[in-house]
Amino acid sequence: MQKVRKAIIPAAGLGTRFLPATKAMAKEMLPIVDKPTIQFIVEEARAAGIEDILIVTGKAKRPIEDHFDSNLELEMNLKEKGKTDLLQLVTETTGLNLHFIRQSHPLGLGHAVLQAKSFVGNEPFVVMLGDDLMEDKVPLTRQLMDNYESTHASTIAVMDVPQEDVSKYGIINPGQEVEKNLFNVINFVEKPAVEDAPSNMAIIGRYLLTPEIFNILENQHPGAGNEIQLTDAIDTLNKTQRVFAHKFTGTRYDVGDKFGFMKTSIEYGLKHPQIKDDLKQLILDLSDDLRKDEKKKKEKE
Ligand code: G1P
Repeated sequence: MQKVRKAIIPAAGLGTRFLPATKAMAKEMLPIVDKPTIQFIVEEARAAGIEDILIVTGKAKRPIEDHFDSNLELEMNLKEKGKTDLLQLVTETTGLNLHFIRQSHPLGLGHAVLQAKSFVGNEPFVVMLGDDLMEDKVPLTRQLMDNYESTHASTIAVMDVPQEDVSKYGIINPGQEVEKNLFNVINFVEKPAVEDAPSNMAIIGRYLLTPEIFNILENQHPGAGNEIQLTDAIDTLNKTQRVFAHKFTGTRYDVGDKFGFMKTSIEYGLKHPQIKDDLKQLILDLSDDLRKDEKKKKEKE
């Protein structure tokens, strides 16, 4: 059996949900408190035992490359000032086996993954999307890799979402639960209308795929949103080899839109050693004020 060693992180999206912040800056560099979102993904890959990571970048993505490179001037400066804790923070992102490729035309997630064909070769690999931060005792990517060791098959991470949200996701039509939280899949549908969705089990941004996906992607016609969809290619793959769905039971933070991003920032801030106490106090004060405002409003009605 081949070991899973490689990960692809697509980071070529235009980040339109965060404009104007993303006009000249990659959305993957937006920080949750003090850490760019893409660093959380790279850390998950590392914790899972991934050895090589390919980041598929696009326009305005140079800062991502710089972030994972050394910055000698900054390092010297921090060293001279004896700021060893900061020095550690800026150097812990360097020295990883990171590779970059540019997706010249943003034709969809399937197309972004296809850019990794020669990097991956004939090996199983994982795809990690930057809009989802995952927390669990065992990293979700590692859970998928552990599944692969027993099934030798592609496995897609899924989670229940509210019925009204199904059209934002790839949705599975689940078959039999073959073991706890591992399902056969009848078919996959990208962003179905609420009334057409076969379930509310959504694809959540971590995929373990066999390399046969690339031949399918090469011939994949545009689907939902007129984009080349990874979900459509996975649906085709599932017709020739088994693709499983693994239900994630940990916590998922969606940082792909403004509200999810704010919510995650607050939740992470409440755990951050430097700011958690002040942030907690701020939230308590704000809650008091908001409750008083609500009460006044109700009294007037
Ligand atoms: C992508 C995938 C979708 C998946 C989602 C998870 O959609 O196409 O199948 O459910 O990520 O975050 P996007 O959010 O890029 O539109």
